[in-house]
Amino acid sequence: MSEIFIPPLKKRIKKEINVPSDKSITHRALLLSSISKGKSQIFNPLISEDTKRTINLVKELGAKVDIGANKWVVTPPKSFNVDFDFYSGNSGTTTRISSGLLASIDGHFTILGDASLSQRPMKRIIEPLSEMGAKISCENYKLPMTIIGGNLRGIDYWLKIPSAQVKSSIMFAALRATGKTTIRGAINSRNHTEIMFKNSGVDIEINDNYIEITPSLPTSLNYRIPGDFSSAAYFIAMGLISKKVDLIIKSVNLNKTRTGMFQVLEKMNAKFEIKNFKNDIEPIGDIVPVFSNMINLKNIDENLIPFMIDEIPILVLIQSQSEGRVIFKNLSELRRKETDRINALVQNFEKIGVKIEELNDGFIVEGPQEIKGGEINSFNDHRISMTFAIAGLISKEGIKIKNSNCVDVSFPNFFEIIKGFFS
Ligand code: S3P
Repeated sequence: MSEIFIPPLKKRIKKEINVPSDKSITHRALLLSSISKGKSQIFNPLISEDTKRTINLVKELGAKVDIGANKWVVTPPKSFNVDFDFYSGNSGTTTRISSGLLASIDGHFTILGDASLSQRPMKRIIEPLSEMGAKISCENYKLPMTIIGGNLRGIDYWLKIPSAQVKSSIMFAALRATGKTTIRGAINSRNHTEIMFKNSGVDIEINDNYIEITPSLPTSLNYRIPGDFSSAAYFIAMGLISKKVDLIIKSVNLNKTRTGMFQVLEKMNAKFEIKNFKNDIEPIGDIVPVFSNMINLKNIDENLIPFMIDEIPILVLIQSQSEGRVIFKNLSELRRKETDRINALVQNFEKIGVKIEELNDGFIVEGPQEIKGGEINSFNDHRISMTFAIAGLISKEGIKIKNSNCVDVSFPNFFEIIKGFFS
């Protein structure tokens, strides 16, 4: 069991922060390059516990991954290995997206996960992949799950949950099916798979109402991965709620399907600047958050939630430091993340002296509240660990985080950066 104590920040600091590369894009780049035509180059990828799972998966399939300094070269296999068990650890993205890819291969694959992943719902991918013709068996729609893949047919699918993992799972399956696949319904979520497919010459049509994919062999990728907005969010929050810091967060992905939190923050009167904006395959810029007296909105536009789903824990911390009361609803998906994040947040905030009311599908938060400090449990969820580290920095007495090292799944050097605030 790992444990860390985050003391309150006493002195003023000025820092340039480099956050790790985008996790979602790294997973997708690995998976796509393992089925594309020729060698791919992935520059500046994220090396973390979760992305290592996806590396292992593509290697199991027979792809070669040469890991260099800041560059991976992926050579797809001539033919896939078609019978293996695979351990996905804590990674929902590896599991759900690669299931689509595995379902399209004539083979027999079993996916296992850690205790948390084995509790997470898989029905959402099992339904569409089975409709396409995959044979999937498991108990209660949970891991371990066995996929017998191959001979998929294209489907017309109505997506009920705005989940990018589910959308991407179907999209990967569609690449190697027979006939077109159309996805309608809740398609507004992070769109990295759409961007990557377009860039790799996949025959894809995207509009407001549907995504349509005609089976294609993707061309090899040449992809430079920007900083992860979800990792930057902790330092954006720190810059907004603490008078003691002066931060610039470098080269962050500013894709609008990821930066929903900015739209909420702007309405709350948050001040931040974007510098060095560039339109690469995805838009990139440096973020300069400025201490702001923020005001809570009465409620939050539910359409923005998929565009900030991983930022809700840190946004709730910001709300606890802002003036007024917000009712934050339609967040039931948070109960299905690495832990039940609604419950984890409410329990932990209470432990550090902050009152937040739990709703079935969200929270009522009233601020500003002083954070006394205390001891919390991350419940082995990286986003809970990082949220309460930031809370520790602005608390009166500091916060001890139990099971802190789960940050390794997305942000392995997070606590090194935080320690740098005190040196
Ligand atoms: C992800 C999508 C989101 C997000 C997860 C990464 C992705 O999950 O929470 O951290 O890379 O597609 P859902 O698709 O379940 O909302």
